[in-house]
Amino acid sequence: MEEGIIWRLLAALVYVVPAYVANGAPVVVVRLVGSTHPLDFGRTFLDGRRLLGDGKTVEGLVTGIAAGSAVGLSVLLLSPGTFRHASEPVLLSVGAMLGDVLGSFAKRRAGVERGASVPVLDQLGFLVTAFAVSWTAFGPPRWADPLTVALLMAVTAALHVGTNAGAYLIGLKDRWY
Ligand code: CTP
Ligand code: MG
Repeated sequence: MEEGIIWRLLAALVYVVPAYVANGAPVVVVRLVGSTHPLDFGRTFLDGRRLLGDGKTVEGLVTGIAAGSAVGLSVLLLSPGTFRHASEPVLLSVGAMLGDVLGSFAKRRAGVERGASVPVLDQLGFLVTAFAVSWTAFGPPRWADPLTVALLMAVTAALHVGTNAGAYLIGLKDRWY
């Protein structure tokens, strides 16, 4: 039973906590800090559209990486087998924010306005890049067989939609998605 699907999915969910926290923290932080600075400093790309848009801020990026790393290091203390190295939760956080930024860059190039939804990219893009960064350094973790990764993606998409709807209901976000 120890290495069964339930065990692997639970191990996966603990492993992705830094990426989840990094992805979610900016929404809260941006509401708390008074003024924010767009990560693209208001600049436009060759197509005349914003490089990233006002949804990506310096404050969001920094606090996302910091919060994901801090929570990830706490996870490592509580559950030592979760990561291969103390840098892994940091890489997961950096990778998550990288995906978030790349996603906005792609959305702006496709003419999608800031805040408008692109299903799948919005919910899973950050996780794909978090894995790309951390698995490049450490290889796939023990739980990562195709079925578990697929289930984790499905659970992540559902959690993303659910937490965003919750953030909208308590007034943190202006849109429910
Ligand atoms: N946020 C931020 N800085 C980041 C990431 C997110 O300040 N690096 C904050 C912004 O207030 C943003 C909110 O978190 O509006 C939700 O993030 P996200 O859904 O990724 O941004 P969108 O506003 O939807 O913009 P985009 O269309 O570019 O994804
Ligand atoms: Mg969004």
